[in-house]
Amino acid sequence: MFRRCGSLALAVAVFCSCCALGKEMTDIEVLTALPTRCTYEHAYDMYGAHCAGLRLDKIPSLRSGIEILDFSDNKLPEIGSDTFSSYTSLKYLYLSENMIFTIHENAFDYLTGLISLDLSKNVIMNIPPNILQLPSLRKLYLGGNPIVGQMGSLDKLAENKDIAAPLELLDISNCKLEHLPDWGLLPQLLLYNVSNNPLRKLEANHFAVMCNLGKVDLTKAIDDIPLCRLRQAISWFQDKRIFFQLDDYSQLNSREFDKCPLSDVEAVYNETYHVCKKEYLQMESSRTSRRTWLTISGGLAGFLVIFMLILYLMHRANVARTKTAAEKMKSSKPRPDGDKKASVVLLDDVS
Ligand SMILES: *[C@@H]1O[C@H](CO)[C@@H](O)[C@H](O)[C@H]1NC(C)=O
Ligand SMILES: *[C@@H]1O[C@H](CO)[C@@H](O)[C@H](O)[C@H]1NC(C)=O
Repeated sequence: MFRRCGSLALAVAVFCSCCALGKEMTDIEVLTALPTRCTYEHAYDMYGAHCAGLRLDKIPSLRSGIEILDFSDNKLPEIGSDTFSSYTSLKYLYLSENMIFTIHENAFDYLTGLISLDLSKNVIMNIPPNILQLPSLRKLYLGGNPIVGQMGSLDKLAENKDIAAPLELLDISNCKLEHLPDWGLLPQLLLYNVSNNPLRKLEANHFAVMCNLGKVDLTKAIDDIPLCRLRQAISWFQDKRIFFQLDDYSQLNSREFDKCPLSDVEAVYNETYHVCKKEYLQMESSRTSRRTWLTISGGLAGFLVIFMLILYLMHRANVARTKTAAEKMKSSKPRPDGDKKASVVLLDDVS
């Protein structure tokens, strides 16, 4: 009896340890069975491929027609001229946290509909100037690319000064920059992130070319600049109602800062600022006039379609009417053999 109990207990113990072992196995399996393929989904009315965190070192062959590609957190080492040539409908491209070192100068030329490009947290050496000519690009993230700052690549990028992309957000945070690149006019820019850079100077003229700027992130960017050298830029921000983000405002609220000499920045940079405003208004008016034309031509096209439809319906109604009229005429005509019968009847009556 005892023995049986003992063996039962042993069996239970073995069973349980088996269970535990089995559980461990499945845990390992789960770990090794992480997704290795991109998945597809619809998001915000767009079709997208999700390939983040798959440890891929090249872009696999994806379904064409995707508008979003999340390829962040992989091991992509470079972007060639044809890496994205098959995905011309891309609007949102996320390539942050890869190992991108080089980018071909024509790498993004096919992506004329691209709205947002995230290249942050890579080791990019060069950024092709063509990026700034993309006609739809509104958000550009270049933050967390230390080599870019050290090699002066952003200065080279800005050299052209003729930025066609309607940039609204520019992130160059965490790029080991000691000075900010001279971009030329950026009339549409709303948010400028220059945080986490060891800047040596901050000048108002740098911001006069951004006449619609609403916010600049200066967190951990101006700690190395002598207090009075900040006065001009800060008063520009205050004047133009630009929100500047800092981790500590106490220095700027000090009496020492108030005593710093202040030149009339408005007078100095007013011209640049107004050139920027003018360009912005031109862009806006051309955009609204384009929209108006689109509306008008769309309305006309719609009207034409409806008009043609009415004409067609009227035509069909006409055809139907003539047909029934013809049929009526046909059916009202006396039948030839009916006539015969009638005459026979007549003849019968006579006889
Ligand atoms: C600026 O970039 C940093 C990362 O470098 C980020 O933490 C911060 O939120 C960004 N600021 C804004 C206003 O988006
Ligand atoms: C700035 O420029 C505009 C037009 O260019 C002018 O109307 C305005 O008076 C100027 N303001 C100052 C303070 O110089």
